[in-house]
Amino acid sequence: MTLLQELESRLAAALTTTFGEPTTAAVTAAADLRFGDYQSNAAMVLAKARKTNPRALAQEIIDHLDLTNLATADIAGPGFINFRILPAAYASRMERLIRDERLGVPATGAGKTVVVDFSAPNVAKPMHVGHIRSTIIGDSLARIARFLGFRVIADNHIGDWGTQFGMILYGWNHFLDQAALAQDPIAELVRVYREVNAATKEDPAVLEQCKAELVKLQAGDATNLAIWQQCIDVSKRGLEKIYAQLDVKFDHWLGESYYNDRLPGLVEEFLEKGIARESLGAVGVFSNDVLPKEQDPFMVHREEGWMANPVIIRKADGGFLYATTDLATLQYRLDEWQADHIWYVVGVPQQLHFRQLFDAAKRWGKTGDFQHVEFGSILGDDRKLMKTRSGENVGLIEVLEEAVERAARVIAEKNPDLQGEEAAQIAEIVGIGAVKFAELSQNRLTDYVFSWDRMLALQGDTAPYLQYSHVRIRSIFRKLDAPFEAAGMTIHLDEAAELHLARLLARFGEVLPTILEDFRPNLLANYVLELARAFHSFFEACPVLKAEEPIRSSRLALCELSSRTLKQGLFLLGIQVPERM
Ligand code: ARG
Repeated sequence: MTLLQELESRLAAALTTTFGEPTTAAVTAAADLRFGDYQSNAAMVLAKARKTNPRALAQEIIDHLDLTNLATADIAGPGFINFRILPAAYASRMERLIRDERLGVPATGAGKTVVVDFSAPNVAKPMHVGHIRSTIIGDSLARIARFLGFRVIADNHIGDWGTQFGMILYGWNHFLDQAALAQDPIAELVRVYREVNAATKEDPAVLEQCKAELVKLQAGDATNLAIWQQCIDVSKRGLEKIYAQLDVKFDHWLGESYYNDRLPGLVEEFLEKGIARESLGAVGVFSNDVLPKEQDPFMVHREEGWMANPVIIRKADGGFLYATTDLATLQYRLDEWQADHIWYVVGVPQQLHFRQLFDAAKRWGKTGDFQHVEFGSILGDDRKLMKTRSGENVGLIEVLEEAVERAARVIAEKNPDLQGEEAAQIAEIVGIGAVKFAELSQNRLTDYVFSWDRMLALQGDTAPYLQYSHVRIRSIFRKLDAPFEAAGMTIHLDEAAELHLARLLARFGEVLPTILEDFRPNLLANYVLELARAFHSFFEACPVLKAEEPIRSSRLALCELSSRTLKQGLFLLGIQVPERM
């Protein structure tokens, strides 16, 4: 049990005695430490329902509250109950956490399966900074869920079957430079794609030829299929390199093409069950008039009034669409993997797509918890969508390269002793970590402004600051003659800075489960920052190696627990820590 759960259970006992029937109420971490560590508005809520005086009720609850060896309680304002944890309770909690591999984190996800659908770039199109967000947020959510005990399936639903292949096939036959393809396949495919794109704008006949190539591919033409397969292979190899650099792993890569065979039957089933109907030769899912129009994803309000807003699942020419594939994918994940939850980490522009998908799935009888974990855009310094000087979207590879280069410069300045291979490795860890932390410390829904200098600063809310904090803690242990064994140490918390550090260490297990309530890794990012700051204050106020026993060992044990918690927190954000920097 975390301290918060412990308080909630003791409060529940007091409430039950007070009211003579089972009653529970929530406890939250206090926003302002001057009032205590935790608080509850139970008295206010319950007094309102019972029309009694909240302060008097709070007193009555406190009279029944047994907080022995845990906390003290008092009443504040209109009837808040504030709890202050006893230093001795924090100390024994620290002794427990030191021996706990899970650092006090409960296994809230045990027995449940979650599919995390993230990254999912489109083959033969450049992976742009927008894909950074999905990859970094999705990977962090997968790591957190895994640590909370969920069975996590990370699935990269790559776009390997879209209309872009019409263009690629046409370009393959007209513009391909074989030597360039051998050298840097992804770059060459992107170049070809752009060239065809430009050609279609100049000559509409080119667009027609692209469409013809796509139809041939979809009909199973052997030549086009072979070219397509080659494109997929080289693209995957390129992507794998990026994921390796980012330390991101997938359990599956079931792209759109994987579901091709299932699409015709799916559309027939939708027609039979009356979920979809024909309209002008196409097949679409329309409103079933169950939801109020304002909430109905199949209705849209235009100048003329409310209009149907169907999702097409088969075109008049027989082709299938993104939504058809996503329906088949959803079914597969439920049937094959017994998914309880599916989280789609995809940008805000696809909101309607997912509302329609989830509603159609429900009408199809598919049950589960389906979430669109949406996010805003990354903006350049000018607050417009980030573009390169020539006006194109910035590629992910360029961003990572530049991050590592800049990190190398910062490190060279800070610690010129680091050289060669070691310096290069540290630059990699720091540069990539900086990009990830800049992303994850944001509220995912806000558009954020990308700033190199802010992201790589050694002071401030950055990954390098956190990584440096970890290095600083580890350097204490390097000064010891013998390895330090923290397990079994008695913890003393006499100084305010020690107590505050312990308070934060105890909260790790309380913060983590809340992140998944609303998919906010930024709560974890804030937590590790607070923890690092608390450690620095502690380290400034309290001598460690120069302290007398038993304080010295107690403080060393706190250092050890801080470094483990910081490292684990950063790991869950996908950020590694170097040994030195
Ligand atoms: N390939 C899509 C894109 O880049 C994202 C796919 C997201 N996942 C899904 N199941 N629709 O826009």
